[in-house]
Amino acid sequence: MAIRNQQLDRIGSNVRDLADSIISRRSRSSVSFDFTAEVARPAALLGVCELLGIEKPPVHSFAALADAMTRGMDAGLLPEVLAPALAARTELNRRIADWFDACDDQGLLSEVLTGAQNAGIPREAVWNSARVLFLAGFSTAVGAAANAVLALATHPDAFEELRGSDALRSGVDEFMRFDGPVQGTTRACVHETQIGDVTITRGDLVTALLGSANRDPEMFKNPDELVLTREPNRHLALGWGIHGCSGAILARIMIRALLESLIQNRGRLSLAEPPERLPRATLRYPDRLPLSFR
Ligand code: HEM
Repeated sequence: MAIRNQQLDRIGSNVRDLADSIISRRSRSSVSFDFTAEVARPAALLGVCELLGIEKPPVHSFAALADAMTRGMDAGLLPEVLAPALAARTELNRRIADWFDACDDQGLLSEVLTGAQNAGIPREAVWNSARVLFLAGFSTAVGAAANAVLALATHPDAFEELRGSDALRSGVDEFMRFDGPVQGTTRACVHETQIGDVTITRGDLVTALLGSANRDPEMFKNPDELVLTREPNRHLALGWGIHGCSGAILARIMIRALLESLIQNRGRLSLAEPPERLPRATLRYPDRLPLSFR
């Protein structure tokens, strides 16, 4: 994947510009606003579309599709989310087919398409990869941004610390450890493994609870505290191993850009009303995050 640092930096600075314009407008009024809808979703969509090299679709309709699909990951617990998820997948596939025709030749999508064509793989087979890239990038970045800003709004000391130092360098990862959006992932066991007194046999499915691991007291001192300068910080918010997050660098760049925008604004951020969450197990973040500036 030949995504260059320059391209990632440009995405970071465009996300920052977008956040600056929304946040500076909002900070001039004491009226509350929903950070998830007004900042996190448009910023995440901009970042992912620029990475893929496609035109940004309307935020509202795209976010609704992504929400339906990501909620589908919980169909084992909530069967009623399955049908809307399947309908959203069909609709997303239709849009992806259009993006294939319209993508620019600088982005990741055109690179994947060219690679597939050279390898004799049909376009339709690339739909799945494109859909995974889009969803893996969009919904997680929305969640990570909303969680980080919720933590910031409820930890005034952290806000001041970030304003007066370069703690954001390590702080981005600490926000993800403290409240990462991806709560779990499942793997199939390939050979018999013993963990403590539990034997896992070949073919068993094992769900790792990432959110819980990130608060493991054997791994992290004072795990329930937000410690912006925490180092080392071997959290699992971006997964691990060969299937760890392919977008980890971009994820950090986007979250950093959003936090910098808030910190450098002179207003004092606070929670205007309690956040609202949809019932969800796999992804955790506030679907509505009402904030205000004082
Ligand atoms: C802060 C935002 C993000 C978080 C918290 C996050 C988290 C994760 C996690 C936990 C995994 C591992 C899933 C598993 O093991 O089952 C993962 C995988 C992945 N992520 Fe991210 N991600 C973020 C942003 C992104 C972005 C921006 C992209 C790119 C557009 C991206 C692309 C991917 C892909 C393609 C995978 C699958 C890798 C594989 O299976 O080999 N992610 N991400």
